Amino acid sequence: MNVLKRCIYGISIVSLASMNIQCKSDKKVEETVTEAKATDVVTIEKSAYGTTPKGEKIDSYKLKNQKGMEVDIITYGGIISSLKVPNKAGKSEEVVLGFNSLEQYMKPNPYFGALIGRYGNRIAKGKFTLDGKEYALAINNDPNALHGGPEGFHRVVWTAEEAKSGDNASLKLKYVSKDMEEGYPGNLTVFVTYTLNNDNSLDVVYEATTDKKTVVNLTQHSYFNLSSDFSKPILDHEITIDADKLVPVAATLIPTGKLTDVTNTPFDFRKAKKVGAQIEAKDEQLKNGLGYDHCWVLNNQDKGERFAASAYDAGSGRLLEVYTDQPGIQFYSGNFLDGTLPMRNGGTYTRRTGFCLETQHYPDSPNQKDFPTTVLNPGENYKTKTSFKFSVK
Ligand code: GLA
Repeated sequence: MNVLKRCIYGISIVSLASMNIQCKSDKKVEETVTEAKATDVVTIEKSAYGTTPKGEKIDSYKLKNQKGMEVDIITYGGIISSLKVPNKAGKSEEVVLGFNSLEQYMKPNPYFGALIGRYGNRIAKGKFTLDGKEYALAINNDPNALHGGPEGFHRVVWTAEEAKSGDNASLKLKYVSKDMEEGYPGNLTVFVTYTLNNDNSLDVVYEATTDKKTVVNLTQHSYFNLSSDFSKPILDHEITIDADKLVPVAATLIPTGKLTDVTNTPFDFRKAKKVGAQIEAKDEQLKNGLGYDHCWVLNNQDKGERFAASAYDAGSGRLLEVYTDQPGIQFYSGNFLDGTLPMRNGGTYTRRTGFCLETQHYPDSPNQKDFPTTVLNPGENYKTKTSFKFSVK
């Protein structure tokens, strides 16, 4: 990609050595434009995606490398609307569930590709207390609050700034969540930076600061189907999760407060296992989740960013590895997909045709004294990183 400076209404004299420009006569106004050049290793292209009913313009950014990977991100919800990666024959194909219009993304949907905040996952009965003050959130997943509320970060418009350095193409999204927005205290300034490199890895860095004590738990809610055949359930995908323990939940998917050993349970993914291998087993946790919809306690929590989980589809040969510095990962097997949402090219997304690997803190942490804290204080920097690495085998 090439960054050019131009004189609006004027002719620019471009010094190729420095890329400095001078404007002839009195035409001093400059604009910056980005263009993809054939020689660039990674490129970013911006296009208009649509307009919300309130008149907000939504853009789409395509980050693309030379290894056949490309990701489309829209400024509505910071949604990954498309992610294409090569299969073992080198054919680049879609691997995330998504829609083909802004209108569809704005209709109720289970967070397809979206950024989730201010608090990813459930908060029991939508209530938590900070410094003796109780906060009440909307109950949008009866009887609990889920994924930041009905108008959470998945439904807001983010501003975007593109950047390129070496083999990396980045899109830095910003959103300022107002004090008491969706019931959460504190003005929260959030940055989420998506970076694609030329090694088929997509990094997501989340940053936030607040002016009042609050709770934060940000994540990404892409639904993957590595086969690229969205009419096919993901039950044959082989999953690995580097976790000795699970955060068990009660019937409303709120943690019981204990952490249990996965040994000899359908939740043991320390060795690769097909999603479908035990999903129908008689098991209280599977019953509560209607399948897998649980947070695992990742191992090596003192190690910063480390391997967390992987998914492999033998048919296409695609392997997805997830690395994170977060304590937990929610593995959700798409149990609530019910054939009502349209696929991009006809048909509908049916049960378990996509899975999510949402790196995060444990659910309901604000109410669970023994879980790692999700409190963010003024003066502190929330910063976490998750990488989605694609390869074939
Ligand atoms: C998360 C939750 C699930 C479900 C999906 C969206 O993964 O844990 O229970 O709500 O989001 O349907």
